[in-house]
Amino acid sequence: MTSLYPDQDLHLNTRVLPVDPASISFRSGNSLPTVSDPTTLANLQEAVNVLTTTTKPVGFPTETVYGLGASALSDEASLAIYKAKNRPADNPLIVHVASIDQLQQVLHCPLPEIYRPLVDVFWPGPLTIVLPAPTTTDPTSGKVVPVVSSICTHGQETVAVRLPAHPIARALIAMSNIPLAAPSANASTRPSPTTASHVFTDLHGRIPLILDGGPCNVGVESTVVDGTVTPPRLLRPGGISLEQIKLHGGPLWSNVVVGKATADANEVVRTPGMKYKHYSPRAPVVLFNNCGTGVEAISKYLKSHDEIKTPSAVIAVLTTRLFDQEAIKSVISDSLSTPHEVIIKSLGSAGSDISRNLFSALREMDEDHHATLIFVEGIEESDEGLAVMNRLTKAASTVIDG
Ligand code: TXA
Ligand code: MG
Repeated sequence: MTSLYPDQDLHLNTRVLPVDPASISFRSGNSLPTVSDPTTLANLQEAVNVLTTTTKPVGFPTETVYGLGASALSDEASLAIYKAKNRPADNPLIVHVASIDQLQQVLHCPLPEIYRPLVDVFWPGPLTIVLPAPTTTDPTSGKVVPVVSSICTHGQETVAVRLPAHPIARALIAMSNIPLAAPSANASTRPSPTTASHVFTDLHGRIPLILDGGPCNVGVESTVVDGTVTPPRLLRPGGISLEQIKLHGGPLWSNVVVGKATADANEVVRTPGMKYKHYSPRAPVVLFNNCGTGVEAISKYLKSHDEIKTPSAVIAVLTTRLFDQEAIKSVISDSLSTPHEVIIKSLGSAGSDISRNLFSALREMDEDHHATLIFVEGIEESDEGLAVMNRLTKAASTVIDG
């Protein structure tokens, strides 16, 4: 990958250190964790050492996707995250805390009442809330200054905060005693990583270490909600569904407005992340919505796209609920006269399985099978489907509506 930042050190030896989430327990919400496995403790301490003595970011697991964390209080550390990912500077980072206590004591953020019912149910967990960016008085200059680095917030008047549920993420934040700015640990535009090896593929040489705590359980990023505006908004669908927000949020969240999934490059948006190409494997993705068994729609697509009919094409198909795998395999073979390979994989049919498998399957088709083209079967935009379809729509170069 060519770097936007020529001064960047691209030759770090990236170490991948194993950690066992099951060996960690928290006695109370605010305490330091107890770590029963010595290797996990030593490797966590290595990561804490990087975070507290350098400005380099580290990869770590959360329940949603792997994050790339560094101090949210430091400009230099926040900048190093953008550099490692080649992330556009105007896309702010989520700040991760280990407890509500840390939110209040270290970030000096009071928790607005509107978030109480949501935080009571969904924290720790895959919910990110937007808060007014806190300020403090600098003891030497007497000036009012932002608490969170303005590189991390891109100077916005708000800051997005999340309390992750993953024991490794919480232990890392609690033990380093630093709120961590952490975007997903993919290279910008690539699908979010759900294993340590995905992080290594994208960022090796660019970061000093990755904590490997196994695959992420949720598989899509956190839901971002903004209760600083009236009516409140759901800015990014994610691990907590719109239905769950309405069910548990009380009257103030009953009329929550769902933000648009995409925006033009020069449009001013509340979630700048939506402007950019996202979640994209190298192979073009064709998304099929409401296409039944998929047989007719795929046949029609192949008839009108001769450019696919090249020798050694690799056609990948990711199915969910209705696509007929056997019939699709035959229709592809019948349509392509040149030698080719067809790889068909089910993402599952339950929403939670589809979410968990989505990014990892896109990467597998791309990185392991070198797919020429990826066909994906869409699902209804309810429950987990809203987040899944949001990511698929952004990953797709073509959307076919049946
Ligand atoms: O699950 C997650 O949220 C993962 C894990 C690592 O915690 N993190 C993650 O971060 O997905 P990232 O940077 O890939 O996505 C953060 C999103 C972006 O769309 C960004 O524009 C939005 O949150 N965001 C950040 N700060 C914001 C703010 N103050 N107001 C509105 N949106 C904000
Ligand atoms: Mg991301």
